[in-house]
Amino acid sequence: MKPFKVINVVGARPNFMKMAPIIEAMNHHPDAIHPILLHTGQHYDQKMSHSFFVDLGMPRPDINLGVGSGSHAEQTAKIMLEFEKVCQAEQPDLVVVVGDVNSTMACTITAKKLGIRVAHVEAGLRSRDMSMPEEINRLCTDVLCDYLFTTDYIADQNLLAEGIAPEKIFFVGNVMIDTLMKHRKMASKLALRAKLGLEVGNYATLTMHRPGNVDDRDVLKGILEAVAEISQQVPVIFPIHPRTKKMAEQYGLESFFSTALKPEGIWITEPLGYLEFLHLNMGARLVMTDSGGLQEETTVLGVPCLTMRPNTERPITCEKGTNIMVGSDKDNILKHAREVLSSPPPQGQIPDKWDGHAAKRIVEVLLRINSGEC
Ligand code: UD1
Repeated sequence: MKPFKVINVVGARPNFMKMAPIIEAMNHHPDAIHPILLHTGQHYDQKMSHSFFVDLGMPRPDINLGVGSGSHAEQTAKIMLEFEKVCQAEQPDLVVVVGDVNSTMACTITAKKLGIRVAHVEAGLRSRDMSMPEEINRLCTDVLCDYLFTTDYIADQNLLAEGIAPEKIFFVGNVMIDTLMKHRKMASKLALRAKLGLEVGNYATLTMHRPGNVDDRDVLKGILEAVAEISQQVPVIFPIHPRTKKMAEQYGLESFFSTALKPEGIWITEPLGYLEFLHLNMGARLVMTDSGGLQEETTVLGVPCLTMRPNTERPITCEKGTNIMVGSDKDNILKHAREVLSSPPPQGQIPDKWDGHAAKRIVEVLLRINSGEC
């Protein structure tokens, strides 16, 4: 049988740790699958992109579209224009997209209009919040895709309720957790925590980059005031996203940060690599975030997570795991942080099939698809 030619698409930071185990699992079947790794270039900074390829042992992308930043329409359009040329030249049998970033949606639309089948990994997540660009990306992607790989039963229910045919849905587990499990031991051996003088269970980490939190001065200021108070109790390590840094500077809020680590206060660093950040999160007393993936990672690590958003597309992390939705209100963030810091660590459960083998299950399905079984 002719090898199945698959273009695997990545674009932004949270895509890399989802795609790494899929590529690895595909490489176990060189006679059956011919994988091509394509980077759209949505994220391009060394610290937002290249360092993840190194940490995760990912091959260099075979193709880089180099699209860079822009408005949503600009970025999406640039990806579509460039990806169309690649699809026409390569004539793949399948395109695999992951997550919910602009690259995910842009490549899905482009491939489908050329009659190429598309598989979406991490399908069916829904926040029901149309003010999030990611929700629009998720909806457009899922409605078009031929194969939908899901992380939990809630995602299956969401897709079925939207009328997606059950035979297109495959509950395989969580590829992000494959990556976490593979690198956990290596991350635990890093010396970063010791170098920074941090004690296990006695510091917090913070990530924040959603437009809803960082593009409005009052919201951003309120969150930083809450975190500044929390940092009187435990030091807070804040690897700052370029967007957040830009907005904090524009709004004159840099006085909240210190670039030198002190026993108390918010310490900002450049975005950290995958292993370094996992290392810090594994030993944290508390994680504060507006990210999607971190809600899942903390659930598996058993570390309390305060998610500074009004809703989540990952409710399983609240139902089973250690995640609490706290919104962006200063007093609410503080109330929950104090509760967490004065309680014993929570006992969460790990969702079904978050076991390190999701990518293997995905590739098994792809082999069945290629043989015409599904
Ligand atoms: C994107 C994803 C978001 C994901 C996040 C992780 C979309 C709609 N959003 O948001 O879901 O959680 O990535 O980081 O796809 N910038 C740099 N260097 C880079 C990349 C971005 O400086 O390498 C700056 C630029 O000023 C850019 C801004 O960050 O305009 C926003 O980047 P963009 O890719 O549009 O979205 P993110 O906020 O990173």
